[in-house]
Amino acid sequence: MPVAPPERDLSFAAVAARHRAAEEALAKVDAYARGLHDPFVVSRILSRQEAVSSSAIEGTHSTLDEVLTGEATQDEEARAEVLQVRKYATTVTRFIKQAHRQGNEVFSANLVRRLHKRIMEDAPNYRDAPGDLREVSVWIGGRDMAYSIFNPPPASKVPACLEDTVRYMRAEGMHEIQQSIITRMALAHAHFEAVHPFRDGNGRVGRMLLPIMMAADGRTPLYLAPYIEANKPAYVEALKAAQQRLDWASMVGFVSDAVVGSANELFTTREALEVLSTRWKARRAFRRGSSSLRALEILPQYPVITISRLATLLKVTYPAAATAVAQLEEIKALVERTGYTRNRVFAAPEALSILNRPFGEEPILPEA
Ligand SMILES: Nc1ncnc2c1ncn2[C@@H]1O[C@H](COP(=O)(O)OP(=O)(O)OP(=O)(O)O)[C@@H](O)[C@H]1O
Ligand SMILES: [Mg+2]
Repeated sequence: MPVAPPERDLSFAAVAARHRAAEEALAKVDAYARGLHDPFVVSRILSRQEAVSSSAIEGTHSTLDEVLTGEATQDEEARAEVLQVRKYATTVTRFIKQAHRQGNEVFSANLVRRLHKRIMEDAPNYRDAPGDLREVSVWIGGRDMAYSIFNPPPASKVPACLEDTVRYMRAEGMHEIQQSIITRMALAHAHFEAVHPFRDGNGRVGRMLLPIMMAADGRTPLYLAPYIEANKPAYVEALKAAQQRLDWASMVGFVSDAVVGSANELFTTREALEVLSTRWKARRAFRRGSSSLRALEILPQYPVITISRLATLLKVTYPAAATAVAQLEEIKALVERTGYTRNRVFAAPEALSILNRPFGEEPILPEA
């Protein structure tokens, strides 16, 4: 049985420096977000990246490009995997907003079940009703229970164990003041994964709870799944240490590194997109306030787009949006994708190459 996460003051000397670096990174992200009109404005692409990565850890493969294209064309017939990833992205965005409003009170077993329901309802062949707690035994690792690495609690204990997780996340005990948000994220995640309340989808729900915890704490949410996907062995080791030895420090160290790595990645991406925007603007003269200039400004958030979507976003007529697209095609900021006869689709390849790069790699920028 997983013991409830401790609420006392935990100072981990062994990971203190990494933890401090993470707190500094979070402060930097908060300061940056305060300078924006809407702190969530940066999150459209990020939430989709998060969804793609978190689902890839599970083996549900789709690309950011595929997800964005499906959204741009409102393609309801996209592959089930793409729909599932899209649902993940809209779910995390929606609950981040709710957590931001409600704070830690947002956390309940019901919330966890709603997250699971939404991300699993498009999963083909899921054997339980999405959102229902499991009524079967599960094990982690190994081909059957006898070889497993870790056995989560029996089904009969799941509701009580999940209550332990959410009570901890609500931070009603002393630990709110005694433990940092990073420590709380680490312990809550390790505990949630040890409880494994569902037949499947526990990794995805658990990872989705991380940015939601940050939002509930009044912080700018950082999406950690791309880091986790790129560092999966360290992630699994940290989870195992928590489960098998009640070694919470390893998990705190891992989440600290994930926060630092994700914040760095965020800043690298933002800088690259700013340079790209400068390069685009140097390719021709734009009238101030023109639709084409405004279109250029939203391309990093909408690197795959149709004319009608652009018209809606800019609140301009279809012909005005069409003219803007034509101008952006001239400077090669947008390129038409073939194969879409009914609804022409345009992509910004230079922006996509920055947004799509593997985690930790340097962005590739066009020549000045
Ligand atoms: N010892 C462990 N080894 C590997 N994963 C573990 C371990 N303990 C807990 N986990 C968690 O279990 C998750 C897998 O559980 P499950 O298959 O229910 O989730 P999922 O969302 O379907 O899959 P995935 O996490 O692979 O995307 C892992 O992602 C991880 O978060
Ligand atoms: Mg799974």
